Amino acid sequence: MSFTADRLLLFGATGDLAQRMLLPSLCALHDDKLIAPELKIIGTARSDYDDDSYRNFARAALNKYLPDFRKSAIDSFLPRLSYQVLDATDAAHFIDLSDEIGTIDKGMAIFLSTAPSLFEPTIAGLSQAGLTGEKVRIGLEKPLGTSLESSREINDAVARAFPEDRTFRIDHYLGKETVQNLLALRFANIMFEPLWNAAHIDHVQITIAETVGLESRVGYYDGAGALRDMVQNHMLQLLALVAMEPPANYDATAIRDEKVKVLRALRLIEPGEAVTGQYRKGAIDGQPVPGYDEELGKESDTETFVAIKAHLDNWRWKGVPFYLRTGKRLPQRKTEIVVNFKRVPHSIFASRGAQTQPNALVIGIQPEENVQLQLMAKVPGLDREGLRLRSVPLNITMPDAFAGPTKRIAYERLLLDLIEGDQTLFVRRDEVEAQWDWIDAIRASWASHGLVPKTYTAGSWGPSAAIALAERDGVTWHE
Ligand code: BG6
Repeated sequence: MSFTADRLLLFGATGDLAQRMLLPSLCALHDDKLIAPELKIIGTARSDYDDDSYRNFARAALNKYLPDFRKSAIDSFLPRLSYQVLDATDAAHFIDLSDEIGTIDKGMAIFLSTAPSLFEPTIAGLSQAGLTGEKVRIGLEKPLGTSLESSREINDAVARAFPEDRTFRIDHYLGKETVQNLLALRFANIMFEPLWNAAHIDHVQITIAETVGLESRVGYYDGAGALRDMVQNHMLQLLALVAMEPPANYDATAIRDEKVKVLRALRLIEPGEAVTGQYRKGAIDGQPVPGYDEELGKESDTETFVAIKAHLDNWRWKGVPFYLRTGKRLPQRKTEIVVNFKRVPHSIFASRGAQTQPNALVIGIQPEENVQLQLMAKVPGLDREGLRLRSVPLNITMPDAFAGPTKRIAYERLLLDLIEGDQTLFVRRDEVEAQWDWIDAIRASWASHGLVPKTYTAGSWGPSAAIALAERDGVTWHE
């Protein structure tokens, strides 16, 4: 059912995500009048706040994470907020919550960002308090389980109260402008699609590199590791957008139908097709940083880096490797997709001593937002000593091309779509399950082969075995 909610209920309203992303996003949407004046935002968590003290809490978060925002804009945003203390395991608290929310006749959007163990009691509490009706939709923040089985349990619990068309699974990478731009690049331009296949593409690289370490997420991260924290969701969503068939429409069903086909075509990798690593002390930007074991305060087998050679068993991508890598404490923060084309079938320049390089399309997702096409060009000159060719970039820098529009936080887009009910940029249950299916098989294979992470120095590009993984195929990681 289509409706625009006039209530937004935030679970985990005092958490890190709320402070860093949700409150700033909502404040920015408010300031740009993109959310209706009547939208009430109700925060809930265990911490003991009332409306006033929660508004003070929110103000502090906004001052910290939106330091350049006008004070008057923050002042006019805060009255939208109210707060209700809630212990998700106590059903009576949901009745108080329902009183606080008031009528939900126009519609309510829920944003659930709590510990996975609280998902089931929260859904049950909402149901009992009559807060799951036809005009309520729910957004679910990761982690949605740690395996296919546990994700099914969560999805089943949610499905008891919310049908799929009112369930919005969040992968914040889909809220990023540059990730959505992948669709425009592929499907709003004629020149890529005819070449976008195994006949013309040699291999694809996807890198999500981070400089941060464990941050303050000891409890969560050590139980997850890079494969489940980054590959299972963000990396596989990027891969699906790169590899999917052209959907017939830009709508939730058409796009998600195509993505899930890609995810189901992922081949189980061989033992030699993955490398895991864990950082040891080193330096980033000239600053010394501790090792993972030191940050954690104990030894651990959790991987903070993973590189995988993946394959899609379908007609379009037969024989085209997808090299994926992600890690913490790498030398720079960079998310990028590189599509490496094949060489020209015959070089007319060979007889003149010139070499051709394959073309490459480099799509910068963050922090650089650009699209660069590496093309061969003739080096100017009279060529008395032979003709020379060189690879030169055709470069589009998004901030230059689009100087006008404000840069948005990914959650602004996702919160607005949740409030208004557009599922296109949310992950469907079958996608999540296909993702877990592949990840579980990798983990099972690692366990049976006793794979333990190799160490790498913080500030390097991961263990040397990750470089070898690509180099044995004659491939160099794009850096
Ligand atoms: C989160 C992971 O999903 O994504 C974090 O849990 C990671 O470990 C973060 O740091 C990266 O997001 P972004 O938007 O900074 O690339």
